Amino acid sequence: MHVSVRVPRALYCRRLAVTPIIKTQWWQTHCASCQARSSSSETSPKVVTVEGRQYKTDEWMNTPASILSAIAKRLHLQPDHPLSITRQLIESRFLDHKYYNRLFPIVSVNQNFDALEFPHDHPGRSRTDTYYINKETVLRTHTSAHQADTFRANESSGYLISADVYRRDAVDRSHYPVFHQMEGAKSWDRNCLGSYGTLAERVWADVANIPSHTIKVEDPNPTIHPERNPLQSTYHSVEEAEAMAAHLKRSLEDVVVTIFTAARAAAVAAGDTTASTQEPLRVRWVEAYFPFTSPSWELEVFWQGDWLEILGCGIVRQSILNNAGVSSRLGWAFGLGLERIAMLLFSIPDIRLFWSSDPRFLSQFSATGPIQRFVPFSRHPACFKDVSFWISSTSRSAGGQVAHASARDFHENDVMELARDVAGDLVEDVRLVDEFVHPKTGRKSLCYRINYRSLERTLTNEETNDLHEKFRQQLVKNLGVELR
Ligand code: DAH
Repeated sequence: MHVSVRVPRALYCRRLAVTPIIKTQWWQTHCASCQARSSSSETSPKVVTVEGRQYKTDEWMNTPASILSAIAKRLHLQPDHPLSITRQLIESRFLDHKYYNRLFPIVSVNQNFDALEFPHDHPGRSRTDTYYINKETVLRTHTSAHQADTFRANESSGYLISADVYRRDAVDRSHYPVFHQMEGAKSWDRNCLGSYGTLAERVWADVANIPSHTIKVEDPNPTIHPERNPLQSTYHSVEEAEAMAAHLKRSLEDVVVTIFTAARAAAVAAGDTTASTQEPLRVRWVEAYFPFTSPSWELEVFWQGDWLEILGCGIVRQSILNNAGVSSRLGWAFGLGLERIAMLLFSIPDIRLFWSSDPRFLSQFSATGPIQRFVPFSRHPACFKDVSFWISSTSRSAGGQVAHASARDFHENDVMELARDVAGDLVEDVRLVDEFVHPKTGRKSLCYRINYRSLERTLTNEETNDLHEKFRQQLVKNLGVELR
């Protein structure tokens, strides 16, 4: 059994460079059972309608209808859903913040990237990583897409945004193309210091009001490092940055203590006596980089033998606040993945379960009372199948309309998405198990293993064979590979 040890879904700091792939628009032909409709005419531009909003598509469109149909679900708002319970647990630590939980997921490239100062060549902007509707419009890839607008609205000194976000990515038990994030921010106004002489003093007074904890925090690096984690020296004094960083770190440590205390209580109540329920909680701060904060950090928690990345955060780039018309304010922001936290809070083993409508899953959670560990229902057998193909070819012997994929324009996320598109939630994971380059021809061969498993029933052999054959044919048709 493949147990995923991938690093968490890349926070936007360390993504690998990828080459965009421009292929036929196969999103147009899939998933008829979707509330998102494309116009009947075969000629461009087409229009997609999502919850009454119309968008013209162009050659950037790469969003399958199956992805658009997830928009209506809003799992983070479903009563008694584990994602909703997790959201409320975190919200309970920020009672004076304003909560935004219904922001629409289709945003502009400007909101998602430009306003946050993502460089133009940032890999996150690529069509292999992000769902585009047209050149200017994407499905938000993170809740930070609403930072600039929320700062501009200036309705509260602190806010939380919880929402569905969308990324083209791997297929496995901890990655799903739609997931949920929470964004948080807190800012202070230089013109409203009350009885305090300086903004730093004002912030330190707020730090004193954060509940204290006794957990072990490793924080070996200086708050500011001239190369690795610079101060925004044009705008902030060292004292201001130190005070805001302390407020940020203490607020988020408080969140982590709340989550892990609840997770442990649930584990103990379920009779779990393993080491992780006994040992004192350990957390550590790690230096990070995000285009929209400086200095920046990640918070990691030691959980079941591994350091687990929980969130990214930092001091908001002053240019973002200035551009949002609130130049007298300065502050911090963070972003975290709700699935990752809910999975460890409730011991949920597979990210697909969040999308289940099976009462055996949903009936186990309640927003009132203590967190209860998920009791897995019987696991149905998995069935894995391999597919091998050449991605670099000079012949057209594989047939099909599309020119053969070359090593240059092939991207693994296209394989992942095709698997999802053909098999939906019946695919548990997809991973590369072999690759080699032919010594004479220079052609590259890849072998992927697809693990088919239903969370709700046992798949028949025939059904799995059919799915796999369809997947193989789609690889040829859409990616132009040559099957071996
Ligand atoms: N938007 C980032 C991501 O999805 C997470 C994040 C990091 C949000 C730092 C923030 C922040 O607000 O300050 O990877």
